[in-house]
Amino acid sequence: QTRVLTGITTTGTPHLGNYVGAIRPAVAASRRADVDAFFFMADYHALIKSDDAARIERSRLEIAATWLAAGLDPARATFYRQSDIPEIPELTWYLTCIASKGMLNRAHAYKAAVDKNAAAGEDPDAGITAGLYMYPVLMAADILAFDAHQVPVGRDQIQHIEMARDLGQRFNHLHGREFFVLPQALIEEQVATLPGLDGRKMSKSYDNTIPLFAGGSKALREAIMRIVTDSRAPGEPKDPDDCALFTMFRAFASEAETAAFRRALLEGLGWGEAKQVLYERIEADVAPLRERYDALMADPAAIEVILQEGARKARAIATPKVAGLREVLGLREMR
Ligand code: TYM
Repeated sequence: QTRVLTGITTTGTPHLGNYVGAIRPAVAASRRADVDAFFFMADYHALIKSDDAARIERSRLEIAATWLAAGLDPARATFYRQSDIPEIPELTWYLTCIASKGMLNRAHAYKAAVDKNAAAGEDPDAGITAGLYMYPVLMAADILAFDAHQVPVGRDQIQHIEMARDLGQRFNHLHGREFFVLPQALIEEQVATLPGLDGRKMSKSYDNTIPLFAGGSKALREAIMRIVTDSRAPGEPKDPDDCALFTMFRAFASEAETAAFRRALLEGLGWGEAKQVLYERIEADVAPLRERYDALMADPAAIEVILQEGARKARAIATPKVAGLREVLGLREMR
């Protein structure tokens, strides 16, 4: 059995990048007979970025409904909230004690915040919390607590998985045993990074996202019409390899459809028409899921039941794992 695990931070509405980078490959993997899947809402991670309780609550519900609408079967996969698993913060502390400060100094999110302060001529650490600094350790605990082999993620998370691997390896080495499984990132190369409206990585922090379900087909179409393109007129050849629109299309289309779209762009398809083609391709995939999503959003109590059962299943793994860890660390009962 291969254990596949991944999570999504509950700070916003799921977007197309979350779907193609993590949710779609994760759900596909969970359908394989040889896979044991663990999917969760990273609501402790959300606290690093937000103190807006209503927003976090809303996002948890939206993300849970999104996973289920995308085909996650809670009878097969273990589906839970990070904050329902107290073993995760416990493991975070043990890992904190072996994590090198130098490694955390190199973490992208923290480094980006420091660099931004420096560029603005401020104190490098201004406004940076210890939570942001410790982000990769919490994420390592998410993964190591369940001995996950593979972690389906977008390219932006690779460094974090490498740090989880590093921490697991360090622990195993210190204690002379294979206590933790060392995880590997599972990246779908075609869509490792989905661009957003402005061509940069689609990200909540850049405010350039296209919502997966929120706002319905109308919002999807409107967002697609706002994708930034160059000024080439209809009839002029477009460069498929230098446009976000084509990259997005490829993430949703078969090889044959992609080849046809490439040809059409090279032959001068107008941007307006190209956007309409892109919208129709995405909408064809998303519409049936959106219907399920709307039904799920109308019944939060049913989702709560699923998550509580998921927490029970997840703790059945994490509790003995952390008990074993306490033994190794000299924290066992006195006898
Ligand atoms: P988060 O919530 O930022 O993103 C969730 C998943 O979506 C992927 N993703 C993308 N993939 C392709 N193109 C994009 N533009 C794009 N934007 C986002 C992310 O790579 C991610 O896979 N720290 C994580 C959540 C987390 C986690 C974990 C993941 C917490 N613990 C343990 C895996 C294992 C995060 O903030 O992802």
